[in-house]
Amino acid sequence: ALRGSFALKARKANRGSRSGLQLVASYKVAILGAAGGIGQPLALLIKMSPLVSALNLYDIANVKGVAADLSHCNTPSQVLDFTGASELGDCLKGANVVVIPAGVPRKPGMTRDDLFNINANIVMTLVEAVADNCPDAFIHIISNPVNSTVPIAAEVLKQKGVYNPKKLFGVTTLDVVRANTFVAQKKNLKLIDVDVPVIGGHAGITILPLLSKTKPTVRFTDEEVEQLTVRIQNAGTEVVEAKAGAGSATLSMAYAAARFVESSLRALDGDGDVYECSFVQSDLTNLPFFASRIKLGRNGVEALIPSDLIGLSEYEDKTLEALKPELKASIKKGIAFVQKQP
Ligand code: NAI
Repeated sequence: ALRGSFALKARKANRGSRSGLQLVASYKVAILGAAGGIGQPLALLIKMSPLVSALNLYDIANVKGVAADLSHCNTPSQVLDFTGASELGDCLKGANVVVIPAGVPRKPGMTRDDLFNINANIVMTLVEAVADNCPDAFIHIISNPVNSTVPIAAEVLKQKGVYNPKKLFGVTTLDVVRANTFVAQKKNLKLIDVDVPVIGGHAGITILPLLSKTKPTVRFTDEEVEQLTVRIQNAGTEVVEAKAGAGSATLSMAYAAARFVESSLRALDGDGDVYECSFVQSDLTNLPFFASRIKLGRNGVEALIPSDLIGLSEYEDKTLEALKPELKASIKKGIAFVQKQP
């Protein structure tokens, strides 16, 4: 369920996922920050989904052209554009899934936390509008620092009285995509077969790939574990440096986010076999939010998968303990940001 190309999923979707019925595209997806580096390719990939009937694109600028352009693709969804705060509510009404990549990306030398001051406000404002207009939607937070922006979103939703922890997701799919790619390369495995769960959070050392839980079973030397773990943790920075000031990962991020959207839509559509990793409210550790594998269902998070945390290698155990203080501080910072608002 974790694997497969969009083409494969499209074929499956066309066969119908319930009682042999022909599947009709019927879900509304809204992207907030749709004219950006991630937003544009993400909108294109979602436009290709057979499950989407309406694709609403929102940004503070430049979104009209993106929507006009995409609307010429002869795939089922209708594309509409919305610009500026006065149109945000209309963009969100009736949305089943809201994806938020709005905000500024990193430049060389920056950590994700350096983005906090700008992106915290953006996420807070956008999630307030989600609470007012489509409180029942799945909310996918891409804007960094995810370790803080997800707690910010939760706090905003709580204040609005509509928080459903099963429907709020920090998108960490790119960490899994990277882990799968790097492990397959290192071990000469067929890419489509490799699946590495990634837990913890989404910044530097808080990203913990569980290489010991790789499927299919793979043996790594201690050096390989260390080298792969560090590469997966720093993969975002690899891209930031290569782009040399022009931003961070956008294309691989769009690919990863589209996979998470497609998984969410399949879950909403009744597919009972959908698993992804995501940063969600969690009781798997003593931290209030934690990324792990989750089972997705019609109502969002159907179950956390605790078995991934059992029988970790010594290296993973040690790394997990080491990431907790930073992750805890980032979560606290997000919560405090909303609680401090006048
Ligand atoms: P970008 O600067 O290319 O695009 C951001 C877009 O957001 C722009 O079109 C901008 O107009 C829009 N925007 C700004 N304020 C807004 C508001 N108040 N409402 C609506 N739209 C608004 O940036 P890019 O590269 O697309 O990155 C976006 C975010 O995604 C960054 O915070 C980045 O750190 C994060 N990111 C997250 C990853 C993850 O794995 N979760 C991976 C890569 C990036």
